[in-house]
Amino acid sequence: MFEPPKKFVEPYIKSGQVVADLGCGPGYYSFHMANILGSEGKVYSVDSDERVIKALKDKAEKKGYKNIEAHASSASNLSFIKNESVDFIFANGLLCCVAPLEIDAAISEIKRILKPDGLAFLSAAKGFGSYMEKEKWEEILRGFKVHKREDKFSNRLAEVSLK
Ligand SMILES: C[S@@+](CC[C@H](N)C(=O)[O-])C[C@H]1O[C@@H](n2cnc3c(N)ncnc32)[C@H](O)[C@@H]1O
Repeated sequence: MFEPPKKFVEPYIKSGQVVADLGCGPGYYSFHMANILGSEGKVYSVDSDERVIKALKDKAEKKGYKNIEAHASSASNLSFIKNESVDFIFANGLLCCVAPLEIDAAISEIKRILKPDGLAFLSAAKGFGSYMEKEKWEEILRGFKVHKREDKFSNRLAEVSLK
């Protein structure tokens, strides 16, 4: 899942847009997206792990990033992001890590914050430490308009928008 940023995020975003990096980890992609979005744009970097958000905030402050707003929160509660306000949601490796009982709420939040013409990139590991059942993945995708999808050996990927 740790693909080069160029391949993953650059085709999806442009300067001035609002992006949510859900399950952002230390922010490998958040910082890259913030560079593309510029001062008029914004990245919401969200992870349930307080330590990675603290590290991300420290790095953002040290490097002078003013367009990253980081939150230690579960993707199942994005109350700090307004309805229909996000152009692009990047949830790389998130849904396989979210506790099973929180997945549906996380999907509801993704649908709530995404603009009607926005796009979301979802990916989930098939195995190893975290896991997404094929049936659950298919159920999630049925709730969106699927533009592209790929089932790799170890990963499921999809580009989706609201129906
Ligand atoms: C496989 S890592 C992906 C990191 C990053 N997206 C990337 O591509 O480098 C999954 C991340 O999801 C976070 N996570 C797990 N459950 C979460 C939840 N309910 N809400 C938000 N983040 C969560 C973990 O703390 C971890 O940082």
